[in-house]
Amino acid sequence: MLCSDFKEFRTQLQQSAGTRRVVAIIDRKVEELYGNIFPFEKIGVVADERYKTMQTVEEVIQRLLTLHADRDVLLLGVGGGITTDICGFVASIYKRGVACGLVPTTLLGMVDAAIGGKNGVNMLGYKNMLGTIRQPEFVVSTIDFLSTLEAVEVRQGLAEMLKAFLISGKHFEECGAFFADHGVGEMLEDVAKRSQLQAFIQSAVAVKEGLVREDERDNGVRQLLNLGHTFGHALERCTGMAHGDAVAIGMVCAAKCVNSADTPLITNVLQSCGLPVEIPAGVSREAMLEAMMQDKKRADGRCRVVVLERVGRVAVREMDLSE
Ligand SMILES: NC(=O)c1ccc[n+]([C@@H]2O[C@H](COP(=O)([O-])OP(=O)(O)OC[C@H]3O[C@@H](n4cnc5c(N)ncnc54)[C@H](O)[C@@H]3O)[C@@H](O)[C@H]2O)c1
Ligand SMILES: [Zn+2]
Repeated sequence: MLCSDFKEFRTQLQQSAGTRRVVAIIDRKVEELYGNIFPFEKIGVVADERYKTMQTVEEVIQRLLTLHADRDVLLLGVGGGITTDICGFVASIYKRGVACGLVPTTLLGMVDAAIGGKNGVNMLGYKNMLGTIRQPEFVVSTIDFLSTLEAVEVRQGLAEMLKAFLISGKHFEECGAFFADHGVGEMLEDVAKRSQLQAFIQSAVAVKEGLVREDERDNGVRQLLNLGHTFGHALERCTGMAHGDAVAIGMVCAAKCVNSADTPLITNVLQSCGLPVEIPAGVSREAMLEAMMQDKKRADGRCRVVVLERVGRVAVREMDLSE
């Protein structure tokens, strides 16, 4: 549930937690900014991909043992996707599984990472190699957390939000125009814009929730959420660029590779929001193909690509890499 402000959020969180013992696994930066909203025992984690590892999982578990947290504890993951992924993973293995609630505090967390029950940590430099699929008991947040989010982080979440709208075919242009015209700080200062922001986030969440409900284990329609990701992951690997930025370029590639008539529209909307749309000069075709081969969606030398035929019309295609 996405609350309209901190007041509603506190009430909602209290209701969801009930009288249980809560231990918050919380992003240290979020703790500095908002720690007072969470009157619970806390275990701080650093939001850094390099520490999204089994070592951190073990350290969190050691703290839980020191705190004598038993099986009826509720673990509350508070932060961006790194923190909610770690919390969800710990909750699914600690004492063979304890209750988990999530409080995403980034836009990406709200529309993507905290939704769908995938929990993972990195191993040997590979992202999300170890993990579980287990739904949290609840997800609750508020748009008010976004007031302190850096613009570059807003953009990463926006890319995934626009991805959801490209899949559903609803709100893509309106949402793009809204973010092109207003910064999040400005949106939060105005009542009408606040509710517009909240509504867009809720719509994006509904797209992901709908696909997850149909295909929790990711064997079918859930794969549509990988729109832009086959090309995007390859770009991330080749250039080290941020995930959402890479996905934005990836979505343009997903349209171009089937000669979509909507390619100019998609490019314009993404660009107007400050998202990149072109593969940076210096990234060779060979390097991209090599990186795509390593992507987990590869099957028998062929590559599973989500293509964008039109806004609202996406499909999974098995493609030969030479294509
Ligand atoms: N489980 C899933 O289905 C899923 C889906 C998408 C992404 N992910 C994972 O999510 C992670 C990325 O998530 P993310 O983009 O939220 O990154 P993140 O957790 O690193 O947060 C981004 C940055 O924002 C800071 N931050 C968090 N909340 C803030 C706030 N309210 N104000 C100011 N700063 C704040 C963090 O400290 C961090 O520096 C990746 O590890 C990715 O693998 C998981
Ligand atoms: Zn993504």
